[in-house]
Amino acid sequence: MKLYDTHAHLTDEAYRDDLDRVLAEARSAGVIAINVVGFDLTTSRRAIELAAAQPGYLHATVGIQPNSAVDADAEDWGEIERLAADSRVRGIGETGLDRYWNDTPWGLQQDYFERHIVLAAERELPLVIHMRECGNEIADQLLSHASNGHLRGVMHSFTGDWDLCVRCLDLGLMISFAGMVTFKNGAALREVAARVPADRLLIETDSPYLSPEPLRGRRPNEPARVAHTLRCLAEARRVPVSELAEQTTANAGQLFGCETG
Ligand code: NI
Repeated sequence: MKLYDTHAHLTDEAYRDDLDRVLAEARSAGVIAINVVGFDLTTSRRAIELAAAQPGYLHATVGIQPNSAVDADAEDWGEIERLAADSRVRGIGETGLDRYWNDTPWGLQQDYFERHIVLAAERELPLVIHMRECGNEIADQLLSHASNGHLRGVMHSFTGDWDLCVRCLDLGLMISFAGMVTFKNGAALREVAARVPADRLLIETDSPYLSPEPLRGRRPNEPARVAHTLRCLAEARRVPVSELAEQTTANAGQLFGCETG
């Protein structure tokens, strides 16, 4: 079985002395590729370093997450633009909008989101989009860029309802599910996940956060555990686990331009 963890923060200090074991366990769980997602300049640089050390296995994304935008220096964005030209970078983000923390003033969040959207189009790379309690505002902002064809990107750790999911699908986005879809109180989210077209579905851990059941609460989460999320989704969708593994991995390979065969 081949799995692709499309969203992990392996730059987190939780893995500083433990990354070899974490990657070995991921490999033995069948994980054949992991996206190391940057959320500010430091983690974006580090994501590329990790991808350089594990070519073909770790892939980098670069960006400044909405909650980090308030701390970004004037030069940071220019550096992100330069990093985006690196061949190991397979996506732009994470970016998006966040109404939950509101660390960054709303206008500044929208400004940074806009920059990522433009950069992704320039570089022909998919967007990695973070949503928290403002999915419709994200869809609104993306809509103005979708008129010339469909957007490439992923709504990561999707937690919205079916109406929002349809809006995202109509924009051309893929929908990625993390540990929350496995939680006991996640029945509504599982119903949404069951309806996503098979060729638009991705899986992720969002490590080190939100370990899936039956490991909920065990920190740090790690890429090997994406197998639990896959099994949960296969059950919700009433398809064989192996079939869903193959499909989601092929979807990820296509979106991020990575060999998964
Ligand atoms: Ni993330």
